Amino acid sequence: MSFTIKENIDWVGKIDWELRKFHGEEYSTHRGSSYNSYLIRDEKNVLIDTVWAKFSGEFVENLRKEISLEKIDFIVANHAESDHSGALPELMRLIPETPIYCTVNGVNSLKGHYHQNWNFKVIKTGDKLSLGSKALIFIEAQMLHWPDSMFCYLTKDNILFSNDGFGQHYASEQMYNDLVDQAELFQEAIKYYANILTPFSMQADKKIKEVLALNVPVDMICPSHGVIWRKDPLQIVNKYIQWANNYVENQIAIIYDTMWDGTRRMAEAIAKGITEADKTVAVKLFNVSKSDKNDVITEIFKSKAILVGSPTVNKGILSSVAGILEEVQGLKFKHKKAAAFGCYGWSGESVKVISERLKSGGFELLNDGVREKWNPNAEGIENSTKFGREIGLKLKSDAD
Ligand code: FEO
Repeated sequence: MSFTIKENIDWVGKIDWELRKFHGEEYSTHRGSSYNSYLIRDEKNVLIDTVWAKFSGEFVENLRKEISLEKIDFIVANHAESDHSGALPELMRLIPETPIYCTVNGVNSLKGHYHQNWNFKVIKTGDKLSLGSKALIFIEAQMLHWPDSMFCYLTKDNILFSNDGFGQHYASEQMYNDLVDQAELFQEAIKYYANILTPFSMQADKKIKEVLALNVPVDMICPSHGVIWRKDPLQIVNKYIQWANNYVENQIAIIYDTMWDGTRRMAEAIAKGITEADKTVAVKLFNVSKSDKNDVITEIFKSKAILVGSPTVNKGILSSVAGILEEVQGLKFKHKKAAAFGCYGWSGESVKVISERLKSGGFELLNDGVREKWNPNAEGIENSTKFGREIGLKLKSDAD
């Protein structure tokens, strides 16, 4: 499959409808993904990025139908991660002298992956590669999301090739933002940002503003995953600016696991209390052992506060809760509030353990948390409802 996105510019990538996990088993991809590769034909022909290695045979075969491989003058590797560089070994076996344009970190990473001395051409921000009637201008995009990442901008056609930036793990035969379900598209875009880009929000904000300050027209943004932004392409740029700047919605996420339903009953009582205090706030409950981790992280990203609960086990917390706290710590969320809860039978450390993890993860603790001994009775449940009510009121008054 290939299609023309503009005269002399073709998409030559791969739509991966089957993908359900990405980065090993780390990232859920409920709607598949695509690995977008682009072929630009001018006096010189350039290929931007490739596809994941498992599709390299199919990719090269399709590419051959588009162009005789010897006629590819340049390859641009915007990012060295295997989902974009995976077909390079197969392609370079056939056209070994073709120059590969990438950042200095891109060279290190590609050499580290494939152990080949290909004909690398190192670029820096502002460098220009003339294709004849138009040119590619390179923009280093360090930490968006790897040290080697870069964008490139095609003059005359005004297209930004943004690699992972502005991408979504979203398979679609339509391939354009205006042709797909908007709720699905933005769900996948925010999930991508929350799970991949959150730790690099400062760099994202700075880079986007740097690109906007160039004041160049952008008619299309072509990422390397998901659909192409052709209708109002800057809408996703504006979303990224919002997401990069301590984004919150009027939402509280309650994240817990439970052994004998005590902590679950506390979670539900806390939710009731919050809703009694503030009918406008969205309260969402997730038993982490039954929920998709990346979906939960997306909801944490959207929340102004999270309440995390676990019963005490072996003087600590359940491994499912420990796992999500580990993820959350690495993502470096900012300007979010939190509190802990949980029930216990003997020693009762869980609330303290969770509170400490939340604090070291950069959350502002709302209080010391709440815990109940054994399976909470009516008084214990009311205590959790009161805890929820107090948090609901506090967060409501903070917002007013
Ligand atoms: Fe789509 Fe960072 O690879």
